[in-house]
Amino acid sequence: MNIVVITGASGGIGRQFSLQLDRGLASVDEFWLIARRKDRLHALARRLTHRTRLFCLDLAKEEDLCRFDAVLAKERPVVRMLINCAGYGLNGDCERIPAARQAGQVDVNCRALLWLTLSCLPYMKPHSRILQLASSAAFLPQPGFAAYAATKAFVLRFSQALSIELARKRIYVTAVCPGPVDTDFLVTAQQYGEMPAFKKRFLARPEAVVKKALKDSAHRRQNSVFGLPNLALWAASRVLPQGFLAKTAYRMRGDLQ
Ligand SMILES: NC(=O)c1ccc[n+]([C@@H]2O[C@H](COP(=O)([O-])OP(=O)(O)OC[C@H]3O[C@@H](n4cnc5c(N)ncnc54)[C@H](OP(=O)(O)O)[C@@H]3O)[C@@H](O)[C@H]2O)c1
Repeated sequence: MNIVVITGASGGIGRQFSLQLDRGLASVDEFWLIARRKDRLHALARRLTHRTRLFCLDLAKEEDLCRFDAVLAKERPVVRMLINCAGYGLNGDCERIPAARQAGQVDVNCRALLWLTLSCLPYMKPHSRILQLASSAAFLPQPGFAAYAATKAFVLRFSQALSIELARKRIYVTAVCPGPVDTDFLVTAQQYGEMPAFKKRFLARPEAVVKKALKDSAHRRQNSVFGLPNLALWAASRVLPQGFLAKTAYRMRGDLQ
């Protein structure tokens, strides 16, 4: 049985991956969709033509990750694609956000992504693909979004290294790096503080981000950076001192006097 695994399928970007992939992939038998919100997963499944298997899992919990591993071990599918979308970010200075909520970002964005990637790898074949949701936040340290940006730097670096390790197996890894995207992510992100206005000016549509990510993955690209402003930021982060850029971005938020 050939499957596609999508985490964060109840959210804006994961849902969009499911919808766009559903239009193709005739050789895939089932979409395995993961998130906590059952109602949203069911609503999505009703829109898909592929058969679905829904997993209501809290990826911050090790017992839920193990439950998924147990299903993989029992079914032994071929994982044709893994798309790790589950994640969240909390905007605001570190000392304003409770420790458990901040650490939760590491659990979901990093630990669960790493875990599920390693869980799925033994079930992949040549030409299987992995897409990891990083972010343009990964390019720089981000005061005011510090822990989130650091989790995405982990995703980016891990994905880039993994893509080199897996090249000999012809398994392809793409780190997807959008800037702000118009999804519920922004609602969650602003629980402890407003996002800076300049970021909202560059809001992308999830449809466009996902379309580009799938195209870049099909071309076996290591990175999928969406939009000119993010490409410019990526280039700047490679040539200008990161401390200077991080302080400038913090000043633009109006948080630094
Ligand atoms: N939107 C942006 O501006 C933006 C920009 C760059 C990168 N990204 C990245 O893109 C990914 C998808 O974000 P999005 O924009 O689609 O946000 P979203 O609409 O808020 O969706 C987030 C998804 O993550 C899932 N999730 C969160 N915590 C979870 C947990 N403990 N266990 C299981 N699933 C969990 C949510 O499902 P449940 O709540 O149902 O569990 C939901 O499906 C994230 O990794 C995010 O960091 C987003």
